[in-house]
Amino acid sequence: MSDQSQGSPLFVQESGDETGVPILFIHGFPLTGQMWEAAVAQMPEEYRCIIPDLRGLGESEAADPHSMAAYADDLAGLLDDIDEKRPVVVVALSMGGYVAFEFYRRHRAKVRALALIDTRANSDSAEARAGRMTMIEKVKASGSKAVADAMIEKLFAANVDPELKQEWYEIMSSQPPEGVVGTLQAMADRADSTPMLASIDCPTLIVCGDQDVITPPDVHQEMHAAIAGSRLEIVAESGHMTPLEQTDEFTNILCEFLETLE
Ligand code: MLT
Repeated sequence: MSDQSQGSPLFVQESGDETGVPILFIHGFPLTGQMWEAAVAQMPEEYRCIIPDLRGLGESEAADPHSMAAYADDLAGLLDDIDEKRPVVVVALSMGGYVAFEFYRRHRAKVRALALIDTRANSDSAEARAGRMTMIEKVKASGSKAVADAMIEKLFAANVDPELKQEWYEIMSSQPPEGVVGTLQAMADRADSTPMLASIDCPTLIVCGDQDVITPPDVHQEMHAAIAGSRLEIVAESGHMTPLEQTDEFTNILCEFLETLE
């Protein structure tokens, strides 16, 4: 993989053939592009894999404003910076999916296909929003560990390797509080993308872990029903982190979908 952070506010890693079908991987909260590493390592070299850290997370600096629109525009700017003018396949997990919907809304011409992984289209309920505001105060008072403590038991399926869980607990705990606060606010403020689902007219793959308690299978079944021609895959023995928990199966599903595009 090669790293690049000049010219764009986002830190990005790339792998594969620059001339191959471009795939933009968007990570979840409060994670980093590193969450795609295992899956991307299994991708055939023929694809151009583009793996940024969203602003304020991983190695990308925080910058105001924090909003789904800003994140989507960052990604469009990144594609320009790396001279990727072709429409990309957007592969997005959870919060990455919220960004993907905004990217589709604002930069439709840049989207060749969507792969929506362990995510949802609706916006926060009043209760979920209030929970985000409480969490913002906790992170301001005691750092990002507050988010890691609240999320870690919900992220993975029951039988996950404890080392994988510990590794991601540490990664989440070490995210810069400013970026974590910003992304919490951006998620709380995000638009409801449910009305847009019926108008999505690019090839769409939807993937969900059968034990995902954050964005459960029924949420994905609803998206599948609303997006014409979409394909739904429910992955066994996986929680909310399917690309990390069932990497082989996830990569197979993604590659099969990519082959249908060619
Ligand atoms: C994520 O995994 O990105 C988050 O759980 C999304 C959310 O909190 O809504």
